[in-house]
Parts: sequence; structure tokens; C-alpha cells
Amino acid sequence: MSQSRRAFLGTAVAGSASIIPLLQARGMEAGNGISPRFDANGVIRLNSNENPHGPARAAVEAITGAFGDANRYTQSNDAALRAAVARRHGVKDENVLLGAGSGETLRICTEALTSNTAHLVAAAPTFEQPAAHMTRLGRETRAPNVDALLRLDLGAMAAAAPGAGLVFLCNPNNPTGTAYPLSDVLAFIKDVHRRAPDAFVLVDEAYFEYCDLPGYDTAIPAALDDPRIIVARTFSKVFGLAGMRVGYGIAHASTIKRLEPWRLQNSVSALSSAAAMASCELTGHIKEQQRMNGEARALALKTLNDAGFKALPTYTNFIMADIRRDAKAFQDACAKEGVAIGRPFPPLNTHARISIGTMDEMRRALPVITGLLKA
Ligand SMILES: Cc1ncc(COP(=O)(O)O)c(C=O)c1O
Repeated sequence: MSQSRRAFLGTAVAGSASIIPLLQARGMEAGNGISPRFDANGVIRLNSNENPHGPARAAVEAITGAFGDANRYTQSNDAALRAAVARRHGVKDENVLLGAGSGETLRICTEALTSNTAHLVAAAPTFEQPAAHMTRLGRETRAPNVDALLRLDLGAMAAAAPGAGLVFLCNPNNPTGTAYPLSDVLAFIKDVHRRAPDAFVLVDEAYFEYCDLPGYDTAIPAALDDPRIIVARTFSKVFGLAGMRVGYGIAHASTIKRLEPWRLQNSVSALSSAAAMASCELTGHIKEQQRMNGEARALALKTLNDAGFKALPTYTNFIMADIRRDAKAFQDACAKEGVAIGRPFPPLNTHARISIGTMDEMRRALPVITGLLKA
């Protein structure tokens, strides 16, 4: 090992305390003591539904502690992370499919469970990745619009299911922030299977921890019972690890066995694995993130509604506001003022999706946003 590499690893592995001043010295501010809040140009990033508070300290310490494993492939890390995720959900290891973000699970399901003759059902708008992948594959997507309250139109989606290979149910839905209680989800899945017995249903629960809708719960138990149901989860949101790229699917063992060969081998890095494993053990962290998100989200909703722009309650770390003007032009105007917000999500071309930042970020960004809206 070269002198400089050994010195670097020595510094890093000796303990995360040694890396934290380095991070801070590079302009990353204290929130949990270690995480960055603003990007290098001072732009307030309210455009990608990230966790603005960053990862938990335990996750950062796990990352720095794993530097020394960087020369090894990740079979054993995968096995350990799979077991940790399984423990977290009270399922077996064979029920877990790891991936580089839940995006990998979504992509695998899209690729493996649809075909040139078995389409995808995915709402308009919803998280765009499955439909975008279908376009690349030259396969068909049927995309019923959300309803007037921006909720997924479950009736229209079930009606589009006959002949489908995969039905994508994003709950809560990105970008609209709406959610359904578990009873509605289970009734929907039953309806889909009545009309399309062979279709798989992929329930994306990326924003699970932020959802405080009464009756909301995970579809994981249903997925364990029925091989045609897959639940996707991620470490990118409440755990603040979007940049580490770790997510997973949970399903019946036979379904995981069918999907596993589509994985990119070693797609979860050793550092990412360590961060995710440390996050599996966190409890207080989630509650604290929920509280901070809830407070900043309430401020954003009130500010926009008080300014006369309808923003419905959401169950996520973002809001969708009816800004009654072209969303792209408004996004550009906000960007010029140093506030990055979401792009347009057709057919909602006059709505703006605004991610929830820290309270401090929201206090600085909201006057910019309402100022431009009043102009
Ligand atoms: C609903 C939903 N699913 C999946 C993802 C993908 O996230 P990741 O690949 O980081 O897990 C996102 C990202 O924003 C999302 O909003």
C-alpha cells in the first residue's frame, strides 16, 4: 500500500471523529453535527425530495469505518445487509432484493415483469422511472391521470390492468404527495387481480416513514402472502442516504428468486452497505426526521395557502402547489433567485413540486417563492 493511501486510511478508519472536521472544513454545516445543508453555490435544493438534514451520525461513522473494505467485492456485505433489512421488517433474507437505490428494484420489476405484449400501468403523474424505462424498452405504458384531488385514480388504474405485466402503485405518490390507507391499497390489488390475474403489483413505499395518514400502513405482509405483490423501499429519504444509493424490494421468495438474476452484481458498494446497515438500527432518528419534516411542511403549506395558492396536505417530504402559471417558467424564475424546485410533471403543468428543506431553508425560500408568485 502506498504511503499516502495508508496515511489516508489510517486517518479515516481510526474513527469517524477524524473525518468530521474534514467535512466541516469543506463548507458542510452542522445539522446533526456532520451533514451539509446547502450546496457549494448556496442554492437551496428543494427539487429532489432528499432529506436536507443528511444521514444520521451513526451512518456517517459506518461509512468512514468501511473505507478499509473498499478493495473487496461485496458478497459478504450484501449478505449482511440483506439479513439486517430482513430483521428490520421481520421477514426472511430470501424475501429481500437489494439494489442501488429502490430505483434498481423498480427497473428490475419493469424489465422482468413486462414484455412487448404485457404493458405497464403507471399513473400520470407518478414517479417517472418505470414508465421512462418502458419507453427505452419500446414497451407500452397505460397512464390514467390522477383525479381532481391529485390522488391516484385507483378505479381507472384497475380498469387499465387487463393484459398488464406490472401495475405501479406509488403510495404515497410522488409528485402529488397523496396517499391511500392500507385497506384501499388491498382492495385495489384485489380489483387488479380480479381483472388481470397474472399482473404483478409493485407498491412503492419510498416515503413510508413520512406518511401520517390515518390507516396508512405497509403492504409488506400482503407481499409475503401473494407472489404477485412487491414492495419497494429506500434508504434515500428518511435515512438521508440518497447519495449512497441503497434500496430494496420485499416479496415472496419465489418472486425474489425470479428478480434476483436481473440485478447488477455488486451494485451496493461496501460503504453504502455499511451506511444502510447502521441505519437499520436507528429508531430515534426516524422520529426526529418526521418531526422536523412535519414542522417545515406545515409552514410551507400555510405560507402557500395564505398567499392564495392551493396546496393540499401531503404525506411526504414535498408539497404540490397549484401555482396557476407555467411550471417550467416558474421553476426557472426560482432558480435565478437561488431556489431549486421540481420540474413540471405533466399533465400538471401549472403545479409546482417543492421539496421540504430544513426550517431555516424554508424560512429563506418561501418568501422568494411567494414573492415570485405575487409578481
Ligand atoms: C416514489 C419514488 N420511488 C423511488 C425513488 C428512487 O429513489 P432511490 O433510487 O434513491 O431509492 C424515488 C426518488 O425520488 C421516488 O420518489
